This record gives sequence, structure tokens and C-alpha cells, in this order.
Amino acid sequence: MSSSNAMLKPFLSNEKIQETVKKLAVRIKADYRPLTDSGGELIVVVTLKGALFFAADLMREIDMPLLVDFVRVASYGAGTKSSGNVVMTKDLENPVRDNHILILDEIVDSGHTVKFLLEKFKQSDAASVKVCSLLNKPSRREADVHVDYVGLDVEDKFLVGYGLDFNEKYRNLPAVYTLEEK
Ligand code: IMP
Ligand code: MG
Repeated sequence: MSSSNAMLKPFLSNEKIQETVKKLAVRIKADYRPLTDSGGELIVVVTLKGALFFAADLMREIDMPLLVDFVRVASYGAGTKSSGNVVMTKDLENPVRDNHILILDEIVDSGHTVKFLLEKFKQSDAASVKVCSLLNKPSRREADVHVDYVGLDVEDKFLVGYGLDFNEKYRNLPAVYTLEEK
């Protein structure tokens, strides 16, 4: 599909996204406050580039001390389908050991990306490792991963906007759309 024969159809409004983000923040604050009071920093790990927009909105709802860090991972497979070959091109700047790691992704699809990150941080002796994703496509799962905080389960459709891209485009749209052929 090229951009010229692609059609955007509204899927999630920005209002719905913000409502979902606020609900996630309430749960995260309740769970992490006791943990960080008793030692260890909360490190929010933003998976670039897609989770950037979600992370900026979510973190501003979490009014407690936290550190922000970034990873960049790519997984190569045939076409739009991801594979288990996950490669990390940018690692954290903060130490993982004895800290509480919360991985933020904008969507969990096959689960390979999140599985790779979970294993990596567990091996680095984090005090805890959890995953929060705005969107989740359970029907596409290949890797056995548990997503601790899911904003919304969605059907198997290709989505763009609010960080989600098609060939690097559409990330800056404030809402989420399905991308369909005209
Ligand atoms: P996974 O390793 O298959 O779970 O891949 C997750 C990553 O694939 C997400 O963080 C997105 O960057 C990308 N992805 C999955 N589904 C979509 C989609 O519908 N639109 C755009 N990107 C997607
Ligand atoms: Mg992503």
C-alpha cells in the first residue's frame, strides 16, 4: 500500500485515548507508590519511537518521582509481520539493578519486542519489571508475555496515529486511525 491509495478511518478519538491514559495512571500510581517508598527508583522505559506520545501523556499523570529512559528496538520479519529477531539499537542510560522498570509500549502485537525487553531487564537484576501498553492485539500474539497494564484490547487491524506509523508516517496524528486501501 502506498500513501496515495491509503484511507484513514477514525478508530480512537484523542478524548478516548486521554481517558484510557488517566485510568492507567491511577493503577500505576497505586501499585508503585508503596514500592518506591521502600527503595529503588521507578524507571519508565519508553520504547522509541512509537511510545513517545503515549509516554509523554501518561507520565504527566503520574505525580510521583520517576526517571525517564529510552530504548530503541527493531524486529525484522517478512513484511508487516514481526519476528523473534529483535535487535536493540539504543540501550538505557540508567542502571537497571535494584530499580523498578516499567516498560511502555504503544501496542503489543506478536509480543516479541516486549518478551525481549522483559528478559533483558530481568537478567540485569531489576527489582521488578512490568509492562504497560496503551493498546493490545491479543489475537496476534506469538510470544507468551504478560502485559501488566493494558489500556484497550483491539481487533487485528493496522493502526496509525498517536505514535503508530506506516513507513514512519502518521505518528504525529493526535488520534488513532485504521489504514485501509481506497
Ligand atoms: P510486536 O513485537 O509484534 O509485539 O511489535 C510491537 C511493535 O510493532 C509495536 O510497538 C509497534 O511499533 C509495531 N506495531 C504493531 N502493530 C502495529 C499497528 O497496527 N500499526 C503500527 N505499528 C504496529
Ligand atoms: Mg513500538
